[in-house]
Amino acid sequence: MRHEDPRLAARIHAALGDARTLLNVGAGAGSYEPDDLEFTAVEPSEVMRAQRPHGAAPVVDARAERLPFGDDSFDAAMAILSDHH
Ligand SMILES: C[S@@+](CC[C@H](N)C(=O)[O-])C[C@H]1O[C@@H](n2cnc3c(N)ncnc32)[C@H](O)[C@@H]1O
Repeated sequence: MRHEDPRLAARIHAALGDARTLLNVGAGAGSYEPDDLEFTAVEPSEVMRAQRPHGAAPVVDARAERLPFGDDSFDAAMAILSDHH
């Protein structure tokens, strides 16, 4: 399982600014999901969803191409190392 790079984590967290509710698209096992924010994860791979640790943010089986959320459902969205998929 990948582990967070603390340098990247610090830059990502800074970029999220004052957003409180977040969508993590292609979330994998949950790297870069700060505990102090309210995350919803989207991850289409059952294998990756199974690697999310106990207590991780709730994860939805969906794909970036068809997100099952309405407009303005989140303050911000992020996709870390998943666009190329
Ligand atoms: C390299 S992993 C990165 C995972 C995580 N964001 C991280 O930084 O550890 C890329 C992830 O994108 C997911 N993915 C692939 N195609 C996707 C799609 N169409 N929509 C959403 N996620 C997708 C993969 O299942 C995989 O978990």
